[in-house]
Amino acid sequence: MPYSYKDGILHVDEVPLEDIASRFGTPVFVYSWSDIKTIYERMQSRLQDARGQIYYAVKANSNLSVIHRLAELGAGFDIVSGGELERVLMAGGAPEKTLFSGVGKTQAEISLAIKLGIKAFSVESESELQRIQSVAKNLAIRANLVLRVNPDIPIESHPYITTGLKENKFGMPLKQVERLYQEFGSDPWLNICGLSSHLGSQISSVEPYLIALENLLQLKARLSSKGFAVEMLDLGGGFGITYSEETPFEFGSFIERAFKLLKDEDIEIGIEPGRSLVAESGTLLTRVEYLKPAVEKDYKNFVVVDAAMNDLIRPPLYSAYHQIDPVVQQASQDEAREWDVVGPVCETGDFLGKGRRLCLEEGSLLAIRDAGAYAFTMSSNYNSRMRCPEVLVEGNQISLIRERESFQDLVQNERIV
Ligand code: LLP
Repeated sequence: MPYSYKDGILHVDEVPLEDIASRFGTPVFVYSWSDIKTIYERMQSRLQDARGQIYYAVKANSNLSVIHRLAELGAGFDIVSGGELERVLMAGGAPEKTLFSGVGKTQAEISLAIKLGIKAFSVESESELQRIQSVAKNLAIRANLVLRVNPDIPIESHPYITTGLKENKFGMPLKQVERLYQEFGSDPWLNICGLSSHLGSQISSVEPYLIALENLLQLKARLSSKGFAVEMLDLGGGFGITYSEETPFEFGSFIERAFKLLKDEDIEIGIEPGRSLVAESGTLLTRVEYLKPAVEKDYKNFVVVDAAMNDLIRPPLYSAYHQIDPVVQQASQDEAREWDVVGPVCETGDFLGKGRRLCLEEGSLLAIRDAGAYAFTMSSNYNSRMRCPEVLVEGNQISLIRERESFQDLVQNERIV
């Protein structure tokens, strides 16, 4: 575990969080590289027997250092925009290990990705397939792609982060994929090499994945019988973590069960984990500005901290729970009360946690946990707040991997006319 109390002080690896706060100020994101590396290596070792490759979903945490270090470990990348593609390149990731997903790929993005020779586009619609075909033809470079199936399989997660249902904009029905594979399978400018599916995010149960895999294998069999090769199956990401009470499935047992279904197949397997690789490594470290305890009946106790919804939007957006720990361990719970932890942004939706039992004073440091994924990458400048710095820790080594934004950063692209 990357976070633990030593002598009553919360540490990340060997570093007291107090040291990070005093050196870089608050609010600040902290990540444990040791944790990301351990999880990555554990996953990769499970995939080793098969032709399995991890394509890290860059959207979860796209800091250049995180991408760079994962690339050094051999990771491929799942990207969803030209910006993410540029990040992967800049950080030393390999285009030939990069998958490009997303329903709205622009002509320019497609063109850049083809020129760079990416591993494959994960194609989400017939129109997109036609566009890729025409860009490839104009460039006279063959494009690699997999077709994304929307298998209509329910998962238990927040409705905003399910992707594999009929009502979701992602992928295509099995029948359509089957038709397109055949129609475009012999196109000289398209190398259709496989199938993909991604069911959603923060999934705790393994069953939906196995059902999706069975669907893909049946489709593969039908296509093979007609002479179309399916060389790769991309099973997507979405592996859940424990924010509160969730008990996610064990990655190893998922792979074991999946490989049982795959035992007679000579096929490459891709997975696209984002959250499960980076979430628990991260903390949003924040300091208490004001205590605003209830002074009359039915009012609530508020603690106003210096982080806000612009830094971590998951609680208001998805009703997400993030554990909030005091950095200085509390000896007794006698003084504790239930606080709503809120930020300075002028919105009622600006909360980080509600009803948290804590013993607090002004200046106390709090660690908002599991903030390594979909936290900084979803942050904004709302209320003209500067985005946080990011700090990477490994053992006792501390590196600033993104500086705190300045007011100049905030306004540099604006003009007064
Ligand atoms: N592959 C594709 C095609 C995806 O769309 C995603 C995530 C992933 C892989 C990685 O999923 P993961 O392993 O991280 O669950 N902002 C939301 C999560 C949105 C996920 C979007 N797609 C949150 O904060 O919970």
